[in-house]
Amino acid sequence: MTQLLNLIAIFLIDTYFLPVQCVKCYHKNLYSESESCEGDFCIIRRAPGTSNFDVTQSCVTGAKMPEQTCVLDYEDGIHCFCNTDFCNAPNMFRLNMTVLPIIECKEVYEKEYRAAACNKCTWKVDYMAYDKTLAPSNAVENVQCGYSGQSGPFNLDLVSHIYDRIGLNFFNDGCYNISMNPQQYNLYCRCSTALCNNPEGSLPFPLPAPRISCYTSGFDSDVNNAKYDTPEASYYDVYAQLVKNDSYYDKDIECRGQFCFVVYSKEQDKYYKGCITANEQGDNKIKLGYMYVNDVPYYICNTNYCNLDMETALAEARNGSLVDNSSIFSFSFKVQIIFPLLFFLSQ
Ligand SMILES: *[C@@H]1O[C@H](CO)[C@@H](O)[C@H](O)[C@H]1NC(C)=O
Ligand SMILES: *[C@@H]1O[C@H](CO)[C@@H](O)[C@H](O)[C@H]1NC(C)=O
Ligand SMILES: *[C@@H]1O[C@H](CO)[C@@H](O)[C@H](O)[C@H]1NC(C)=O
Ligand SMILES: *[C@@H]1O[C@H](CO)[C@@H](O)[C@H](O)[C@H]1NC(C)=O
Ligand SMILES: *[C@@H]1O[C@H](CO)[C@@H](O)[C@H](O)[C@H]1NC(C)=O
Repeated sequence: MTQLLNLIAIFLIDTYFLPVQCVKCYHKNLYSESESCEGDFCIIRRAPGTSNFDVTQSCVTGAKMPEQTCVLDYEDGIHCFCNTDFCNAPNMFRLNMTVLPIIECKEVYEKEYRAAACNKCTWKVDYMAYDKTLAPSNAVENVQCGYSGQSGPFNLDLVSHIYDRIGLNFFNDGCYNISMNPQQYNLYCRCSTALCNNPEGSLPFPLPAPRISCYTSGFDSDVNNAKYDTPEASYYDVYAQLVKNDSYYDKDIECRGQFCFVVYSKEQDKYYKGCITANEQGDNKIKLGYMYVNDVPYYICNTNYCNLDMETALAEARNGSLVDNSSIFSFSFKVQIIFPLLFFLSQ
């Protein structure tokens, strides 16, 4: 009896601590082809107006697979999801499609509101105060219909650079404010009810007050050139060397949010660090630990300065209580209920 209980206890510990990475998927974008990746499930997208051979393929980790196998968006783009090894092949495009509902969204064009029809409304503000900028404003606001890459349950659009994608990858029916410097943030809302991105109203999902402080990395030399310039090398090169180090963070500054994160960009050999504030009302929510969405690997935790490096972020993610504690296998449930019960039974 005791042995059985021990086995169960070990199983419960393992299912919590081991990353659940079970399926292998094709991985293909503009820059890399015929690679593979591992995740919770696979995703394939055919962009509008392209042939079945012109597709993007990737993996997703840390989110629930959508119920629909394939969805057809308003631009004739197709998005499919599956969870067996190498299932994300173009033959999926022949499966039955669920047609995504078309809704009316606000679109702002040169300060003029227009109505537009698509599957998801978006509202985005990109703020970045470059040193010595000549731009009239540091903020760029876009109120729009989400284009095809944002139409499905998961954004999949690997054309833009990783630093532009870090802020745009999370889930439908939510707003996110992601900041990697006191002088930089990406505010991004995506919603699916008519006119939910009305810029005269409030955000569709108003953001809560920040709760914790996090380290930052990625943009400080753009904001303050002189802090990094040396007689031998430009701020750009000096900073590029610094951010190659997993444990680097910008000195004397921080950001505030609900979650801290580390993202490593393999292409740039660079560690991005910052804060996330979120209001998520859809099927998926940010998870602590490792997440992989839209080809960005995130290490997410929610204690003060837990994003020192990837290892600390993962350790803190295990230590912290799960934000999404709807699962009965949440860590605190096991600690507070299952483990004492097992102990009691084994006596
Ligand atoms: C696709 O949908 C049609 C009509 O609903 C149904 O008759 C057909 O069996 C479906 N095919 C598959 C492969 O599910
Ligand atoms: C987003 O975060 C930045 C930096 O923390 C902050 O200045 C800004 O007010 C936030 N925006 C919203 C809408 O919360
Ligand atoms: C990375 O940063 C840490 C802490 O700042 C430092 O101790 C270490 O030597 C650095 N590693 C490299 C390879 O520069
Ligand atoms: C886990 O949390 C405890 C109590 O809050 C703290 O003392 C400990 O340092 C944390 N461990 C790690 C690895 O962060
Ligand atoms: C998570 O747990 C906390 C405290 O136990 C509770 O207040 C909160 O409502 C729970 N959240 C969810 C989504 O169940």
